[in-house]
Amino acid sequence: MKSLFAEVVFTRIHARITVLICSLVAAVLGLMGPFFQKEFIDQLTGVESKLHFIQFDHTLSYIIGAFFCVLLAQAFSQLTNFLSVREALHMQKVFAKRLYNKTLHLRVDTMSGRPVGEIVSLYATDVQGATVFLDQTLPAGASTLFPLILAPFAISLLFDIPLWPTVLVMLGISCLNTFMAFRQSKFFFNFKQLAAERIGLVNEWIQNIRTIRILSWTHHFERNIFAKREIETRNRVSMVTNGQMMNSISTSITFFLNVVALATLVFYSKHTLTSGELLALLWIVAVFLTRPFRQMPWFFTFAFDSWTSLRRLEEFFSTQNNETSQTSQERRHAELADKYALQVRGLNLTVAQRKILKNVDLDIAHGEFVAVVGEVGAGKSMLLLSLLKETGAHFDFYHLGGKNALNVPVDEVRAHFAYVPQEGFIMNATLRENVAFLYDIEAERDPMVEESLRLAQFDLDTERVEKGLNTEIGERGVNLSGGQKQRVGLARVHYHEAPIMLLDDCLSAVDVDTEQKLFEQLLLGAWADRTRLLVTHRLSALHRVDRILFMEDGQIIDSGTYEELLARNEKFREYTTSVAKEATEKESAKKAEVSHV
Ligand SMILES: Nc1ncnc2c1ncn2[C@@H]1O[C@H](COP(=O)(O)OP(=O)(O)OP(=O)(O)O)[C@@H](O)[C@H]1O
Ligand SMILES: [Mg+2]
Repeated sequence: MKSLFAEVVFTRIHARITVLICSLVAAVLGLMGPFFQKEFIDQLTGVESKLHFIQFDHTLSYIIGAFFCVLLAQAFSQLTNFLSVREALHMQKVFAKRLYNKTLHLRVDTMSGRPVGEIVSLYATDVQGATVFLDQTLPAGASTLFPLILAPFAISLLFDIPLWPTVLVMLGISCLNTFMAFRQSKFFFNFKQLAAERIGLVNEWIQNIRTIRILSWTHHFERNIFAKREIETRNRVSMVTNGQMMNSISTSITFFLNVVALATLVFYSKHTLTSGELLALLWIVAVFLTRPFRQMPWFFTFAFDSWTSLRRLEEFFSTQNNETSQTSQERRHAELADKYALQVRGLNLTVAQRKILKNVDLDIAHGEFVAVVGEVGAGKSMLLLSLLKETGAHFDFYHLGGKNALNVPVDEVRAHFAYVPQEGFIMNATLRENVAFLYDIEAERDPMVEESLRLAQFDLDTERVEKGLNTEIGERGVNLSGGQKQRVGLARVHYHEAPIMLLDDCLSAVDVDTEQKLFEQLLLGAWADRTRLLVTHRLSALHRVDRILFMEDGQIIDSGTYEELLARNEKFREYTTSVAKEATEKESAKKAEVSHV
């Protein structure tokens, strides 16, 4: 992969070169100013000049020349800044878009362990940080380097003195600045890292605020965030102190250069000094070089800083989805008929050396209603996600509606499915937008939205949604109950027709009555001819489905009707007994709570 640094440097190379040319012109014009001033003073005082690059008839023309040189130098320096910022914004757009696409294409098993806050921080800090090279380092570097390289030569040429004393002092200053800047960039790096960690914490805190409050974890969380903040503040204090030291040193350093340049002039000049020469020297050292000296440490700091952001982004961009190597046993399976909506052979999923799904085979007929059951952690959710190609699962064979689903774009595979995730998914938008899954949809779709909600047993009149379809649901559905969220999820999949429904425990929060109605009107009603895979822990659902897949430890260990499994499978009987026991305990706990109130 082309390195991001190379990309930053070589994308739109003509623009980068224009920036350099502009700042070179600014540096040359900046040095011509003092030359004209020297000529002006020398003419006024009647001293014969040693060098005549440009000659004017009128003495006043020299000072006008000096004025225009300074003015033009400023103009070119501003132009350099403008062009650099424009280039930086362009690159920010490129990186932000890539970050977004990358995040979108990383699958759930690859994303694990990477907190959302980290990606937010990459977006908020590192995308800008990476392009600091363009809007700060490049112009600062050009407007620092060119004057610093050109000034000793100009001094030596204009005043006819040796080069080495000024060059030596400048090298010394550069080393000191590099050291300080290196220190500063370490503080900068910590600053970004700590901010990313804090954003991660705050993000987690906000997302779970309701639960945290109920469980009285607020203080614990706050303490964590404050502790992080304290470390951040200490780092910031060091950063500011070091920054101020850098500024002080770089501002006063011109004094040394002044002394060295003057001393060299006094000791090595082969002629008597003129007042014009003195003024020009002071102008070059004390005025012209002030900005480059001030900028030099920041140039290094920004360069190091930009480098770390580029590395962070590069690391994220190079994250690959786990391998899905494909051995082709497809021909062997080609004879399998296409009466099936979904067929899978040899589905295996390994995450971090752990086998999550082992040799799963599936034959789901068109219109079949299948329940997937098993203990917590058996792999039910991962099975659904794998079918959606959201994990790095390996399939020996995978057909959807009789067509090979391997080696086809992920979007094409997903078009076969409607999916309700276990944790639900609600956007910070109106009820209408949440069902239609589209912002600003036209009002003529309302009857379809209402019908979907009605079938999902979400009654607009009794659910306390005061503004009907226009009710704002809030981030992650904070204004809805768990059962309401699940029903909105069901309404959404009904609205978006798809041949195969993947429903991950989407009835867990609805009451028995509502479940009954959902089965009658939706799951066995409106969806009667659709293919349905329902993950559930509800025993009441099991006698309503055509078939049950019983999972244990990543494998489907049995498949059949409720009665068949009860009759022949000891483990299944144990499972149903434990689920029933758990349900009874929950029910009695609820009753106790109610009688307490
Ligand atoms: N993103 C992930 N990365 C790595 N491992 C995961 C990930 N999600 C789940 N797992 C692991 O995969 C196994 C199966 O998890 P899965 O979520 O499929 O269980 P489940 O059967 O749906 O359980 P439940 O009934 O609680 O929903 C678990 O052991 C879990 O630790
Ligand atoms: Mg699950």
